[in-house]
Amino acid sequence: MNETVSPEQIALRPIQVPPHPQWPELSKSEHEDLKLRIKKLLKQQDAVLVAHYYTDASLQELAEETGGCVADSLEMARFGSEQPARTLVVCGVRFMGETAKILNPEKRVLMPDLNATCSLDEGCPATEFSQFCDQHPDYTVVVYANTSAEVKARSNWVVTSGIALPIVEYLAKKGEKILWAPDKHLGHYVQRLSGAEMLFWQGSCVVHEEFKSVALERVRRLHPDAAVLVHPESPEGIISQADRVGSTTALIKAVTEMDNREFIIATDGGIFHKMQQLAPDKVLIEAPTAGEGATCQSCAHCPWMGMNALQNLETVLQTGNNEISIEPAIREKALIPIQRMLAFAREHGR
Ligand code: 13P
Ligand code: SF4
Repeated sequence: MNETVSPEQIALRPIQVPPHPQWPELSKSEHEDLKLRIKKLLKQQDAVLVAHYYTDASLQELAEETGGCVADSLEMARFGSEQPARTLVVCGVRFMGETAKILNPEKRVLMPDLNATCSLDEGCPATEFSQFCDQHPDYTVVVYANTSAEVKARSNWVVTSGIALPIVEYLAKKGEKILWAPDKHLGHYVQRLSGAEMLFWQGSCVVHEEFKSVALERVRRLHPDAAVLVHPESPEGIISQADRVGSTTALIKAVTEMDNREFIIATDGGIFHKMQQLAPDKVLIEAPTAGEGATCQSCAHCPWMGMNALQNLETVLQTGNNEISIEPAIREKALIPIQRMLAFAREHGR
């Protein structure tokens, strides 16, 4: 018989965090030539780019120049389905590519690097998660989008950071108890605001976990007029200092809407590109990572998001390698909770 492992025990297993990939520097003309070749390939392949805000600025620009999108994970999921293009090239992490494939089985979904995973996904293995669910059959299973297709297939609802709170509030109002996975920080944040009865998987994002509250207090003292913007994957001591907590899209909106001139940002540094583009007069300050005497692993730059670059994007368009495929039985099951989330978003104007 298989021994059951608790979420706490699984959380103690180390996650292999790769070093941030170093891509060779390109001269201006090499960069422009590469972009031109990719644009041609996109046309030839009837392909469109679906990129996340944490990816390299050059990919974000290319996505926008070629009719693709740069977005948070909720919008990335929606965008792919609204596209006539036959190929979606997802520049982000693996779960984003899988979600695109689950929603668009008839399309070819490619990714520059299939090893671009996510610590939340890595820390929530489907078999052990399923055992945890079996132990709590009276709970509604709500999983964050940052999970594998198998974990989604075991859930009742999928949520992204942009829609987690209203969905949990809605379920709590109906008196449902929630089994939440995998991000404990986002889960506790949602519980504090909704008052829902929740059980937690103990995963966390290695990037957001590195923000340190004492160091943040110090930076706030140096910039007393700065607004603090925080992604809810951050620990509670960071969230409690925030002027605005939200998805990547919500944080970008905050920079454009709030009157403050300075902002301290607690999320992946890739988001600075879009913020600076939309609000060039604002001063953006990175929230401190790692703390006293320690070194950071990611230093607020997700190493898996960093696996996406113009160079491997060109290769994947040339070769057609790195195609996402999902077992049909898993896809069918995972589709239901994702569609539930998208229907909820439509009905509630999100
Ligand atoms: P968003 O949905 O807010 O873009 O978050 C995705 C993510 O992986 C953040 O680390
Ligand atoms: Fe996953 Fe964190 Fe990277 Fe987002 S930033 S993809 S949650 S590891």
